[in-house]
Amino acid sequence: MHPACNPSPLMATCISTSPDDTLALGSRWGRNAQSGWLIGLSGDLGAGKTLLVKGLARGLEIIAPVRSPTFALLHTYPGGRLPLVHLDFYRLESPLQIHRAGLEDYLTCPSGVTVVEWIERWWNVTTTPQPDTPARRASPAHRAADACLSPAPPPRDLPPGVRYRHVRLECLTETTRRIVYEDFGP
Ligand SMILES: Nc1ncnc2c1ncn2[C@@H]1O[C@H](COP(=O)(O)OP(=O)(O)O)[C@@H](O)[C@H]1O
Ligand SMILES: [Mg+2]
Repeated sequence: MHPACNPSPLMATCISTSPDDTLALGSRWGRNAQSGWLIGLSGDLGAGKTLLVKGLARGLEIIAPVRSPTFALLHTYPGGRLPLVHLDFYRLESPLQIHRAGLEDYLTCPSGVTVVEWIERWWNVTTTPQPDTPARRASPAHRAADACLSPAPPPRDLPPGVRYRHVRLECLTETTRRIVYEDFGP
């Protein structure tokens, strides 16, 4: 069953009521994906980002199991209709750290289908001001909560020619997710 979607030319909202719904949405995107697509995922821990990537891999006919690259930062999956590059910026706090980790080229020149968890670390969008205490900075939970407030990224920062899908996943209940996505670029 497909998640309920409310499509518009550039932005859509889907309500997923189960992990299978989220897998089906990712799979649909994978079947339609074209080379050079960049997909940025933003949402709290447990929102379903990795599950959406598993769906993407399924839609791209990738057989290898998808595992979260939280520690490796990057996994690549050849062998499908298009190669899938899966990045996770959870452990990187800023565009500078992403640059220093040598990952910038994956964003500016995506090949195959490139999907990024915690994309807000790259866009570095400002959020509703929060008390900026050392304890807050040190707490991943608070950083994640702050990230959830991020608006869509500014499309002006997109490299020319890159087709970018920005995706926000929010937990509504234990099994319900709101998935909002917006497309930028050609
Ligand atoms: N509708 C849903 N969509 C996605 N995940 C869901 C849903 N309902 C429950 N879940 C559960 O939420 C968790 C999502 O995990 P994961 O995809 O690893 O999240 P993230 O990568 O965002 O941290 C899984 O345990 C999954 O079973
Ligand atoms: Mg994940």
